[in-house]
Amino acid sequence: MKKICVVGTGYVGLVSGTCFAEMGHHVICVDKDKNKIDILNSGHIPIYEPGLEELVKKNKKLGRLKFTTSIEEGVTPSEIVFIAVNTPSMEDGSADLSFVEASTREVVRFSKGYKLLVEKSTVPVQTGDRIKSSLSAIRNSKATIEVASNPEFLREGSAIKDFLNPDRIVIGVESKRSEKILRELYQKLKAPMIVTDIKSAELIKHASNSFLALKISYINAIANICEKVGADVGRVSQGMGFDKRIGASFLNAGIGYGGSCFPKDIAAFIKIADQNGYDFSLLKAVQKINSDQRLQIVKKIEEKLWNVKDKNIGILGLSFKPDTDDLRNAPALDIIQALLSKGAKIKAFDPIVNNKVKKIIPQVEYMDDIYSVAKHAHALVILTEWNVFRKMNLKKVRSVMESPVIIDGRNIFSLEQMEKNGFSYVSVGRPAVV
Ligand code: UDX
Repeated sequence: MKKICVVGTGYVGLVSGTCFAEMGHHVICVDKDKNKIDILNSGHIPIYEPGLEELVKKNKKLGRLKFTTSIEEGVTPSEIVFIAVNTPSMEDGSADLSFVEASTREVVRFSKGYKLLVEKSTVPVQTGDRIKSSLSAIRNSKATIEVASNPEFLREGSAIKDFLNPDRIVIGVESKRSEKILRELYQKLKAPMIVTDIKSAELIKHASNSFLALKISYINAIANICEKVGADVGRVSQGMGFDKRIGASFLNAGIGYGGSCFPKDIAAFIKIADQNGYDFSLLKAVQKINSDQRLQIVKKIEEKLWNVKDKNIGILGLSFKPDTDDLRNAPALDIIQALLSKGAKIKAFDPIVNNKVKKIIPQVEYMDDIYSVAKHAHALVILTEWNVFRKMNLKKVRSVMESPVIIDGRNIFSLEQMEKNGFSYVSVGRPAVV
């Protein structure tokens, strides 16, 4: 069993640390945010992630998972130190690596003997080189520190399952010793391991995320054509997805991707390419299609209601996707702001994030269920595909609405279902039900 320190308790750090403990390793998670550490030490978690709180409690009780604000306490007993701090976007799109640098300095300061310092946060290619040069600049004669890259591919909302059952594990290493350590660390997981150099490992993460975002923008572009010619994007993506070379996943048309990863990582990848003399115009188009896609839905609402001023609009779903409380780059926030600026009166419901959004957009009335949002609404707009929305009682919803109009940004209902229930229904890339 390994002794591990994880620096940073955001989604990636907290899930990774907890899952390493679940695999039997001894983990100390470090964060400079005292409030977060207090919450974790009281057996709760500062984010919403299904199943995570139970695993934190279990492993804390077993003595395999600890939380502290002291990096020294985390680093001293550990052989492996993961850097999982955030790498926010700067104004020009590049990743702000100041937290990575600051944590590296701290780790070096408290290191004695051998340590393997592993990048877990998504970082631009060549960050490993930068970390190595700051290691040699700091100089700590008592320690031998090696650097490795081990990108994480977990998705919010299914993070534990993704971490413990990965499609692959990628490690970028520079010595047999660090390869052996990381192989032992992941021994229990049954997944192919790709062992490569650090730069290639860093690029695998960027290339994978960008490719997934590209699939989403591609199907959204196809959806726009479907709308123009009267085809159904659901059928088109189904027909494409059966081809094993294409694959069925990430071909759901909608209001585009959001979240903490895709928008930030794609902007950073474009920037890195640029800095290295390559104009990544393909990814720029991916970005443009995605940002246009969000506002398409506002146009659809306007087309349906003619004037949105003083109309009651019900919004279902605020988080950037279901099963998460993450609002970073959530399409719903932009869409609500656009509707408010046009004078609409908005009621909204999200199963998890009502209170968080209230602090950002206080002009909206936040309700506790679907039916209170639907009451007197001229249109109901679906922005996140939470399961509870799929199961809504359509008859009841129709009976309380001012006019039975549903604008669905996630295509959660079939056209037949909407027709049968007497709704006027506009979705993405499919014929409208009038
Ligand atoms: C993503 C990557 O999937 C993960 O591997 C990486 O580690 C972090 O970034 P995450 O952002 O948690 O994970 O969510 P994901 O499920 O990938 O969805 C991202 C966005 O794409 C969401 O806004 C989602 O609604 C959207 N999406 C996804 C689509 O619009 N259509 C799809 O077919 C799939």
